[in-house]
Amino acid sequence: MSELRRILRDPDDTEKLGADLAGIPRPGICIYLTGELGAGKTTLARGYLRALGHRGSVRSPTYTLVETYELAAGRVHHFDLYRLKDPEELEFMGIRDYFDGVSPVLVEWPSMGAGFFPPPDLTVDLSADGAFRTAVITSGSPAGEQAMEALRCSDQS
Ligand SMILES: Nc1ncnc2c1ncn2[C@@H]1O[C@H](COP(=O)(O)OP(=O)(O)OP(=O)(O)O)[C@@H](O)[C@H]1O
Ligand SMILES: [Mg+2]
Repeated sequence: MSELRRILRDPDDTEKLGADLAGIPRPGICIYLTGELGAGKTTLARGYLRALGHRGSVRSPTYTLVETYELAAGRVHHFDLYRLKDPEELEFMGIRDYFDGVSPVLVEWPSMGAGFFPPPDLTVDLSADGAFRTAVITSGSPAGEQAMEALRCSDQS
């Protein structure tokens, strides 16, 4: 599987990557956002949501596990599984209904829901490198591979 790397020099760069991902519409795409505490996962989600017209704040839905945004472009689900104690909770909340094949799903801390979450189309792994961040994007499906190809083209233009 190929990968794509981007250096993110500041939070705006991180938001921009989110916006670029939002600009490649893939119905029902599932994007895992991985990386340590404070790596920039929510910042990327914020860029994604703002690019689709969201105007308010975007925070990690740590206690509620998921925040659904109703946007002009449709719904987007933003999960943060950091505080998930028992992955079976995901069954109780009807996790499958969130994957409707239309709404994009962004997931912070997907490892906490391992086995209960569908596999990702794309994974964006963020790491702190001194003052800035590095994003490594990998695909997990043909749809993800296409999205990455489109992202690569936008990087070159
Ligand atoms: N490319 C960047 N360079 C420097 N700082 C950044 C960059 N991207 C984001 N940040 C900053 O890092 C801090 C943490 O970001 P954020 O809340 O998005 O992390 P997170 O990965 O969601 O953390 P958590 O695991 O706690 O949910 C914020 O202050 C944000 O502005
Ligand atoms: Mg977060």
